[in-house]
Amino acid sequence: MIKNKNILITGGAGFIGSHLVELLLKEGNFIVVIDNFNDYYEGKDANIQSAIKNCEAKDYHIIRGDITKEDIFNKITVDVDIIFNLAAQAGVRYSIENAAEVAQNNITSVVNVLDYAVEKDIGKIVHASSSSVYGNPLYTPLDEDHPKNPISPYAVSKLCGELYCDYYFKEYNLLVSSLRFYTVYGPRGRPDMAIRKFFNLMFQDKEITIYGDGTQLRDYTYVSDIINGLYLAAEKTESAGQVFNLGYSNPISVNDLIEKMYSISGKSKKVKYIESQQGDVDITYSNTEKAKKILNYHPQINIDEGLKKTYEWQKKIQLTKL
Ligand SMILES: NC(=O)c1ccc[n+]([C@@H]2O[C@H](COP(=O)([O-])OP(=O)(O)OC[C@H]3O[C@@H](n4cnc5c(N)ncnc54)[C@H](O)[C@@H]3O)[C@@H](O)[C@H]2O)c1
Repeated sequence: MIKNKNILITGGAGFIGSHLVELLLKEGNFIVVIDNFNDYYEGKDANIQSAIKNCEAKDYHIIRGDITKEDIFNKITVDVDIIFNLAAQAGVRYSIENAAEVAQNNITSVVNVLDYAVEKDIGKIVHASSSSVYGNPLYTPLDEDHPKNPISPYAVSKLCGELYCDYYFKEYNLLVSSLRFYTVYGPRGRPDMAIRKFFNLMFQDKEITIYGDGTQLRDYTYVSDIINGLYLAAEKTESAGQVFNLGYSNPISVNDLIEKMYSISGKSKKVKYIESQQGDVDITYSNTEKAKKILNYHPQINIDEGLKKTYEWQKKIQLTKL
């Protein structure tokens, strides 16, 4: 159990980060968040506020700042025991338009976090990577040894971050693990991601645009399962120097996804298909045997349950906007 620790969460105001903040506060830890609250999407203040409110905790320090700037770490006033490095510029499409910015942000930030961890001799670092590092699979389900063939600047930057983690593990014996997340969804989901976007359009009775023919398969993974994987990786020393897939391992097509979503929302179907987008892969499908064996990772929330939970949250925030 992770209790009474000082924990740094970079990107803690984001979608996944805010859920981790909430869990670790609930368990009685002191949380330092560094987040630059960038304007990629709105809602980060609301994310962090609702994480804090949900556990009525006061043991936190929110630092608004950029981890690509080394001096931001001087603002930390406690001895950090564990770091979760979740800060990154997400979004495959954004990275195609802004490759240099994404490289600078997603690579320099990792190096700064690792340097800080070495300097302060921090016991455990868990780094967020992505299934996008594999590109289009040669076989499925994908295990961690599958060749890496990133097909977007975002994916290249995430692979580069992993390589730095591996280098710091070998060179400095830093106990760092990288976790490859598969399409994460749930409450506080990013507005640029399909499930959040589709429910939003359904609420407004607007047409949904599908890139490609909708047969592309995605291994949608509910956020609480990802949080559990992050937690387990931090707890287990055996995870150091290793990379793990975190997925649900039951991919469904985008067409099946929207059928389920229309059935939950009770709205009538309005869908348009357009050409597939650069950087999109045909299938994501995790093999999570390694995470099961070493981390005891067992994802719990299937897509039907996860979609219902997401819908309930989104309906609630939609109502507060009216
Ligand atoms: N959501 C997914 O499906 C998914 C899949 C694979 C990997 N990931 C990875 O998980 C992590 C979290 O993703 P998310 O979906 O919660 O994204 P998010 O955009 O909601 O969260 C990222 C947070 O990092 C902050 N940030 C970005 N650059 C920063 C910097 N230089 N300094 C300080 N803060 C900075 C942003 O303001 C944001 O709050 C990212 O590393 C992402 O690459 C996410």
